[in-house]
Order: sequence, then structure tokens, then C-alpha cells
Amino acid sequence: MKSNPTQDVKLNPETLPFHVAIIMDGNGRWAKKRLMNRVKGHEKGTQTVRCIVTACAELGIGMLTLYAFSTENWARPKHEVKALMMLLKKFIVSERDEFSKNNIHLNIIGQKHRLPEDVQKEIDTTLTLTKNNDKMILNLALSYGSREEITTAVKNIARKIELKELKFREINQDLISDHLYTRKMPDPDLIIRTSGEYRLSNFLMWQAAYSEIYISDTLWPDFSEKEFIGILKNFQERDRRFGKVPCNKSNDG
Ligand code: IPE
Ligand code: IPE
Ligand code: MG
Repeated sequence: MKSNPTQDVKLNPETLPFHVAIIMDGNGRWAKKRLMNRVKGHEKGTQTVRCIVTACAELGIGMLTLYAFSTENWARPKHEVKALMMLLKKFIVSERDEFSKNNIHLNIIGQKHRLPEDVQKEIDTTLTLTKNNDKMILNLALSYGSREEITTAVKNIARKIELKELKFREINQDLISDHLYTRKMPDPDLIIRTSGEYRLSNFLMWQAAYSEIYISDTLWPDFSEKEFIGILKNFQERDRRFGKVPCNKSNDG
């Protein structure tokens, strides 16, 4: 019988990250290594998405945010953007049953209005179908970029001040957070980036202030549930200090 990696590992349910965010990178290089078209890498990457979403739901992760398409990715060759949009639409439709089965609530962060209309339509149907699911929130970051997100938030706050709906002295960190796509969501506890790149690439720059970061050399299409669980174990061994002094339990009191 095939062993199930989620059953083999001892993770402490008390210290699981609530919010995991992933920069899914390396699809193109995965394909290039095999002398294949980049789109083949994106296709294989979609299978990894499926596997990690299901693993997160089974493990009891409360929120998973996946960076699927950045504001900068629009500048890729037209045919690649088209293929990515087609794969996105296929995923949104094919996963509906799986989301319902696993009680997953889909949410989008980013410029949904910039996506092709047919993709937006399918997204809206899945959003409606999953809106009462409450086991895990799956945030797909689509046409997402932190600089755009923060610029839009600043504009919306300025407009409210202009209209006298808000006072200058009411601006604080919570108010800014409430104007981001991630409003009412907790910040990511853990951000994983695959493919060995040490950068955020315009992802959750406000929200990542105290996130734990893990860089994996694995290309996204090769990323597995087993590696993911290993990263969660690594997270559980870290000491999150949030700028305070180390927490030494034996010296408490
Ligand atoms: C991630 O893989 C997918 C998207 C950014 C849409 P890439 O397409 O960036 O793959 P590499 O980085 O070129 O290998
Ligand atoms: C980040 O990957 C964006 C997504 C994973 C959607 P990129 O491949 O676009 O980032 P850079 O160009 O390596 O910084
Ligand atoms: Mg890349």
C-alpha cells in the first residue's frame, strides 16, 4: 500500500502555522530542463497546486495563499499569458467539487477585473459555490502585486478623507490593513518560495513584516507534500520573537 506522508509525520497541531503563503516559482525552468515548452511546466505546476491544497486541508492549515500570477507577469509573451489564463480557468472549474468535498472557501486577492471575462465568470461561480465553506480559506493571488495593492489602498483612503468620511488622525496601521486585498485576514505565518530565489517579487510586502520565510531549491512542479510537511516541521522549531526578547519557558516568572 502506498504510504500517505500526512500520516507518517508528527506535527504538533498546536503550533501549525494558521496562514501559509507560497510563491510557486520554477515552472519554466522545470520545462526547460526537459527541453519542453514553458507551458508544460505550468501544466505540471497545476498538479502540484492540487496536491498542496488537499494536503493543507487534510493537515488543518486554516489559510493558504498561492501566488499564481503577478502584476508583472502580464509583461510575459502573449501566448504564455494566454496559456496561464486557460490553465487558471480549467483549475477553477475542475476543482469545484474538490473544494466542496474538502470544505474549502475560495477567495481572490489582486486585480480580478483585469482577468479575461470568461475567467472572471468561472471564478465568480466558484466563489459563490464555496462561500459558506469554513474549513480552510484558499486565497489565489491573481494579477496581484503589493505595490499596486498599497497604491490602491492609499488612493481609497485619500478619497475618503476628501469626502470627509475619514479624518487624517484616524489613519493607523489597522486602517491601512483594512484597505488591502487581505483585509480581515491574519498575516502569513510562513512564506515559502520554491526554485531557490531569495526574493519576494512584490508579494505580500506589507503583510510579510513578521512572516517566517523558507526558500526551497525545488522547482514548483517537483514540490511535494512530503517536502511541505518537512517545511512545516522546520517552522515549528523556530522561535518567533516579533522584536521582543527570546521566550525562555524555564525562566518564566
Ligand atoms: C512560476 O513559474 C509561475 C508564474 C510566475 C506564473 P515561472 O514561470 O516563473 O518559472 P521560472 O521562474 O521561469 O522557472
Ligand atoms: C513570482 O515569480 C510570481 C509568481 C510566482 C506568480 P516570478 O517568476 O514572476 O518572479 P521573478 O521574476 O523571478 O522575480
Ligand atoms: Mg519565475
